[in-house]
Amino acid sequence: RIVHLNGEWLPEAEAKVSIFDRGFLMGDGVYEVTSVLGGKLIDFEGHCRRLDRSLKELGMGNPHTDDEWLAIHREILNRNNIGDGLIYLQVTRGNPGDRDFAYPNPPVPQTVVLFTQSKPGIDKTPLADSGLKVISLPELRWHRRDIKTVQLLYPSMCKMAAKAAGADDAWFVEDGKVTEGTSNNAWIVKGGKIITRQLSNDLLHGITRASVIRFAKEAQMEIEERAFTIEEAQAADEAFITSAGVFVMPVVEIDGATIGDGTPGKVARRLRELYLDETR
Ligand code: PDD
Repeated sequence: RIVHLNGEWLPEAEAKVSIFDRGFLMGDGVYEVTSVLGGKLIDFEGHCRRLDRSLKELGMGNPHTDDEWLAIHREILNRNNIGDGLIYLQVTRGNPGDRDFAYPNPPVPQTVVLFTQSKPGIDKTPLADSGLKVISLPELRWHRRDIKTVQLLYPSMCKMAAKAAGADDAWFVEDGKVTEGTSNNAWIVKGGKIITRQLSNDLLHGITRASVIRFAKEAQMEIEERAFTIEEAQAADEAFITSAGVFVMPVVEIDGATIGDGTPGKVARRLRELYLDETR
């Protein structure tokens, strides 16, 4: 792969970052993942807005304008011949040349990294026809989950726990209610109502989530933004997750309980189609 590092285009093996980079030592960085379908960036504008917000929340500037980010995204697709796949973007606070809890003052140049992941046919995965199994696990992340930081150890641990339990993914539960999935937003459908947790610092403000809500409302479907319990989800007609890369993905089992008839529900399937039709 040809990757992007601080304005340079390099073969991946030649892209090197300092051991003192705060992203490496402190997890002091933010990221975005944007899907690409048929060479088109999906929901790019939303990812740009959230990147800017994440940086601001951590007291960092944005190293590029939206137009510059767009040009970089386009160029990385071209250089790597990507039709379908993902673009990973990361911005860290940079390399102060030593380890110190305090941010470097004055600030040092940020470290900007982008790379691609080619995934031909990412929108046609058979998983969308079979659906996912999830388990619930306690929400043990910090309380600023609205910032898309690179601190992903707990979600990684939970992904491993889910796999060990024979499931595909985990939903986090805090004060009896589902916050979100390890790397996706959680949804249920009951009696025609589409339910997903309201925005707060308790969860990531998913870009796919926002678009799905918009398209659902345009299609006169009913949306309720509120928290729900695992028991409510288990008794729901349908469940699904949303994120860049999986778009809308049905969930057919939660903590061993079958959802609906155990196959992807019609609302989830419709939303998946809507999302893919409207964004690509
Ligand atoms: N994850 N919640 C969490 C904790 C996430 O990490 C993500 C995205 C989402 C969904 O957000 P969006 O719809 O904007 O992708 C929700 C990305 C895909 C990842 O970490 O790979």
